[in-house]
Amino acid sequence: MSDQPKKPDLPPHPALAALRTHRNFYGRVHGKTLRPAQRSYLSEDLTDLRLRGVSIDENPERSPLDMAQALPGDGPIWLEIGFGGGEHMVHMAAAYPKVRLIGCEPFVNGVAMALGLLRNRPCPNLLLHPGDARDLFDVMPDATLDKVFLNYPDPWPKARHHRRRFVTQDHLVPLFAACKPGAEFRVATDIADYARQTLEEVPLAGFELVSDSRTAWADWFSTRYEQKALREGRTPHYMTFRKP
Ligand SMILES: C[S@@+](CC[C@H](N)C(=O)[O-])C[C@H]1O[C@@H](n2cnc3c(N)ncnc32)[C@H](O)[C@@H]1O
Repeated sequence: MSDQPKKPDLPPHPALAALRTHRNFYGRVHGKTLRPAQRSYLSEDLTDLRLRGVSIDENPERSPLDMAQALPGDGPIWLEIGFGGGEHMVHMAAAYPKVRLIGCEPFVNGVAMALGLLRNRPCPNLLLHPGDARDLFDVMPDATLDKVFLNYPDPWPKARHHRRRFVTQDHLVPLFAACKPGAEFRVATDIADYARQTLEEVPLAGFELVSDSRTAWADWFSTRYEQKALREGRTPHYMTFRKP
């Protein structure tokens, strides 16, 4: 994370034209040079695994997606925001094959890692948006989502950067609209001040707090990111909210 917005409109791989966004994105969009295998996952696999009609290029009018066409089936629709390397997302897609899961992540190396996991464990009920969740909210019809995961969002520790955190109204208001009544919104973080802001901001957007626990959900899958936090002695908060 740096102070300068990155330019997601310069994707390091042609398959990532979907990253184009008109928004400032302050997180990382690419890290270490992709390994040849990862480049091939992006070239060969992403076309079939990508949710269409989200990018500005593909949908300049920002028309609402036809979810029944985009995600065939009639199972509940879940979203994982910022799936990182995809470990939790792939675990959930495999554990709940009737659920239709969307994962979004603008960090190219994370998308490539997730595609690597999916080579070994194909999940026909999963589609990826390799970009910013806000672009997805623009085109998602109201009352679409049954469950949403926000696991270890970027902490932005400096006070002057707290407004960049995901748990701000710019993100939460469209997320709330995209959720069905009764939808569950799960947030995990290892940063006490992030938990404080979550407990303040998420209810302001309309969600009700169900629980703020130090014990993970029964179907939780601990990612490398969480393992590092635990090794470094931080205590996770597992917060559950519901749309009334
Ligand atoms: C700290 S990492 C955690 C990754 C993963 N959820 C885990 O628990 O291992 C946070 C991730 O959120 C992603 N992210 C940040 N802002 C986002 C946004 N607006 N839309 C989607 N993902 C975002 C980042 O690219 C990053 O990969």
